[in-house]
Amino acid sequence: MRSVRVTIMVLLGSLREGSINRQLVETAVESAPTEVDLQLFDRIGELPFYNEDIDTQDAPEPVMALRAAAAEAAAALVATPEYNGTIPAVLKNAIDWLSRPWGNGALKGKPLVVVGVARGRYGGSWAHDETRKSFGIAGAKVLDEVRLSTPTEVLGGLHPRENRELATALRSVVEKLVVEAAERGLPPSR
Ligand SMILES: Cc1cc2nc3c(=O)[nH]c(=O)nc-3n(C[C@H](O)[C@H](O)[C@H](O)COP(=O)(O)O)c2cc1C
Repeated sequence: MRSVRVTIMVLLGSLREGSINRQLVETAVESAPTEVDLQLFDRIGELPFYNEDIDTQDAPEPVMALRAAAAEAAAALVATPEYNGTIPAVLKNAIDWLSRPWGNGALKGKPLVVVGVARGRYGGSWAHDETRKSFGIAGAKVLDEVRLSTPTEVLGGLHPRENRELATALRSVVEKLVVEAAERGLPPSR
């Protein structure tokens, strides 16, 4: 691992206060190498629905904040549940905002991994597949081979930080993002 600081943007596909995926993000933050700043962009619920008419130089402030956070990051980590077999709408909306300007979105070429917890037996893997596909089309460098879809029952009602295997896997995911970002020469933000 490098000794310089690396910022990784985190997006969370659940707005629920008691979200297990939020706990997964907390676990990723706690288990990350010290030189990594995992920065949760916790405002996707404030984004208006994507509309080309308002996607101008004066785009709404939460949109500007989202794009600025993505621009500052060297990589991105996405944690999301599955809703009705696919991506929660609030997350898909954030992807749409991040996909513009077309061909030059703020995550263009940046390594991105999708993880998550969901109640179903496949741990939300349909949603994770769709999220990977959509972010890839939006321009991110999706690390398709990195997969971590965890069924809720694996946690046995405990916070994910109590699951050593999961915490270790999350650390590996973050390390992989740092290595990929470095290989692409993406600068850390500070
Ligand atoms: C609207 C809705 C749709 C859901 N659809 C699915 C689904 O398709 N597959 C699944 O595994 N879980 C589904 N669930 C259950 C979620 O996986 C579960 O509530 C999970 O804990 C939500 O993530 P969170 O705790 O981070 O909010 C759904 C939940 C809601 C509220």
